[in-house]
Amino acid sequence: MREAYTFTKKSQINVVFNQKTEKSSATPFPIDERVTHEPLEKLESKLDRLVGMEEIKYMVRELYAWLYIYRKREEAQLKVQKQSFHMLFKGNPGTGKTTVARLLSDLFREMEILPKGHLIEAERADLVGEYIGQTAQKTRDLVKRSLGGVLFVDEAYSLSRGGEKDFGKEAIDTLVKQMEDHKDEFILILAGYSDEMDDFLRMNPGLPSRFPMILSFPDYSGMELLDIAKQMIRDREYSMTAEAQKKLFRLLQHKIASNEPHFSNGRYVRNVIEKMIRQQAVRLVRENSFDRDALLTLRACDLTLEDGSLISKADEA
Ligand SMILES: Nc1ncnc2c1ncn2[C@@H]1O[C@H](COP(=O)(O)OP(=O)(O)O)[C@@H](O)[C@H]1O
Ligand SMILES: [Mg+2]
Repeated sequence: MREAYTFTKKSQINVVFNQKTEKSSATPFPIDERVTHEPLEKLESKLDRLVGMEEIKYMVRELYAWLYIYRKREEAQLKVQKQSFHMLFKGNPGTGKTTVARLLSDLFREMEILPKGHLIEAERADLVGEYIGQTAQKTRDLVKRSLGGVLFVDEAYSLSRGGEKDFGKEAIDTLVKQMEDHKDEFILILAGYSDEMDDFLRMNPGLPSRFPMILSFPDYSGMELLDIAKQMIRDREYSMTAEAQKKLFRLLQHKIASNEPHFSNGRYVRNVIEKMIRQQAVRLVRENSFDRDALLTLRACDLTLEDGSLISKADEA
């Protein structure tokens, strides 16, 4: 079940444990008396806000425990296994990859694994240049800006789409070289659709062993998408009528059932909510109703559907 978390994968655990171990005196991390569970409390409050994602939450908590014990072993002058934290994120758009990358960069900063813990989001165009020599330079510059933090490369599979002659290949080679030259100085996360990422790894056989953690971000269920919607609405200080919720749920279920390739999950929900908010504004201006209750409430009629067949009379209330 939990194969998303790669520590359970034998081949990769070997890679990790085959790395040389060092006594704490040689570790790059300063021993800090102040390490408390405060980072865990912060982490938990962020995880609590995320709907579903049980496997990822499990993995993040396990990572916290692992980092904490790492520190404790250092303090006790016990051997610690040096480990890199580069990761692969697989999943459709809107499944929370960027959200989790941000949460992890904060965690790595709070655990003093990374001094800055900033997150730089990049995609193919930020790494690949138009003429020979430009790509290596662009990629190196990007890594340089990421030092002390996390470099998140979205749709990473697109780097090897163009084959051998494409500059994307040069970007991958440069990234690999930079991972070696700047060991422990930044964390690289490569993200993209599951199938494309699997192909990408097959085409770059040197890569998988460099990424000890692989996280899968599954699509959300209709109920989870509705919970995400409710949370987004609460965050924006709005509320939904029961009819609006029902209508939205039907829309979400319809979307899921229609099996669109690369359905954009949380991002789709966000777009729908933002559109509802605009529709509500138009309605309120038209109705001339600006009392607090009216300002707060999103009604079923504020949700316009692309597919009219989903609308029933009850929703129009
Ligand atoms: N589990 C979740 N709980 C609450 N909101 C979520 C969740 N997953 C995604 N979202 C929201 O959906 C939107 C897209 O998420 P994002 O992390 O950008 O996805 P990705 O990077 O995979 O495309 C964001 O507004 C995010 O806050
Ligand atoms: Mg993203």
